[in-house]
Amino acid sequence: MAKIASRISQLTGEGALAVFTRAKELEKEGRSIIHLELGEPDFHPAAPVVDAVRAAVAEGRDRYVATRGIPPLRSAIADYLKRTRNLQVESEQVLVAPGCKMALALAMMALIEPADEVIYPDPSFPIYPSFTRGLGARPISYALREKNRFQPDLAEIAGKITPKTKVLIFNSPNNPTGTVFTQEIIAGIAELAKKHDLWVIADEIYARILFNGEYKSIWVLPGMAERTVIIDGFSKSFAMTGWRLGYAVAQKHVINALDMLVLNTFTCTAEFSQVAAIEALKDSTNAVPAMVAEYRKRRDLFVEKLNRIPGFRCQAPDGAFYAWVNIEDTGLPAMEVQRLLLEEAGVAGIAGAAFGAEGENYLRFSLVSAAHLLEEALERIERVSKRWGQLAVAR
Ligand SMILES: Cc1ncc(COP(=O)(O)O)c(C=O)c1O
Repeated sequence: MAKIASRISQLTGEGALAVFTRAKELEKEGRSIIHLELGEPDFHPAAPVVDAVRAAVAEGRDRYVATRGIPPLRSAIADYLKRTRNLQVESEQVLVAPGCKMALALAMMALIEPADEVIYPDPSFPIYPSFTRGLGARPISYALREKNRFQPDLAEIAGKITPKTKVLIFNSPNNPTGTVFTQEIIAGIAELAKKHDLWVIADEIYARILFNGEYKSIWVLPGMAERTVIIDGFSKSFAMTGWRLGYAVAQKHVINALDMLVLNTFTCTAEFSQVAAIEALKDSTNAVPAMVAEYRKRRDLFVEKLNRIPGFRCQAPDGAFYAWVNIEDTGLPAMEVQRLLLEEAGVAGIAGAAFGAEGENYLRFSLVSAAHLLEEALERIERVSKRWGQLAVAR
């Protein structure tokens, strides 16, 4: 029989979806489930954004458009990045894609050759190592450890760079730890990238969901604009996951390379989504700060109460909307905690190994349910976990 290309066997999926599928089965059986597994905001886009997409469709804005994105959106993104992140970029340095993930895939396809090495954080978004392998390259991880408040160790990164290293990826705030890399770490990464002539892919999708201070992009550091590709999108900051809207920011010759890939694959991002995205960037109703304030409230509530439950420990994340919870002291493997929480407590979280080997003793909970549901989840976790002492001893 004709064979599927071998690169497919190199790819892996996302753990959240398996838990989500089981949670849905339990719901069909009539069980109550609190969903903390997917990284999908429970908010929806602000009303003016919804009005804008309606108007765009009514006006016939549903045609093939420029492969790299409609010019008004590209220039709105450049303005937005200047306003919110102090980046000096021109609209010619922006390319629109259907989702941040697609922008990531385009950047990786454009920069990585077979047999190259790609350095990425562990734990992190599972697509980084998966897609690296899919391109015939080698993913090499650096650890984000609890004892370092989940900041990377620059000496470890330096020790992993070889003549084959081509790209260094980081994601700040990080999914799943919520860590915002310090200025010192970002400067250190920049120095390593310059010294070894590496590309940096900076996944800034959570840049707006920040609980302290202002976002500092690696792009602004001396000599970094020419070797950095920023990827970002509308899924998290504007609660527009299903709209499939993301973008890449890079030097023009890189954008031209990505554009060639767009031309050879999806042709363009939906015109009406792009028109409405301009409205989202204006944020005329201040939806983004309101959403971030709500995430902060949820974070404070969840982390504080969870830390009081024996067996669980969690540092308050500085950004994004995840709690990365150490469950070592429950005496049970994380997969078993994931199973018991789902099957017995009706709380869906994900065992941390889905984000890399460093996640072995962790669970990720997405704080994407209302505060009263988080309270209920915590009560359920406390109730069910009281029995675990006996389970761990019996093992
Ligand atoms: C770190 C990170 N990068 C990229 C993405 C993908 O975003 P999008 O839905 O816009 O493709 C996600 C989504 O969960 C993410 O967590």
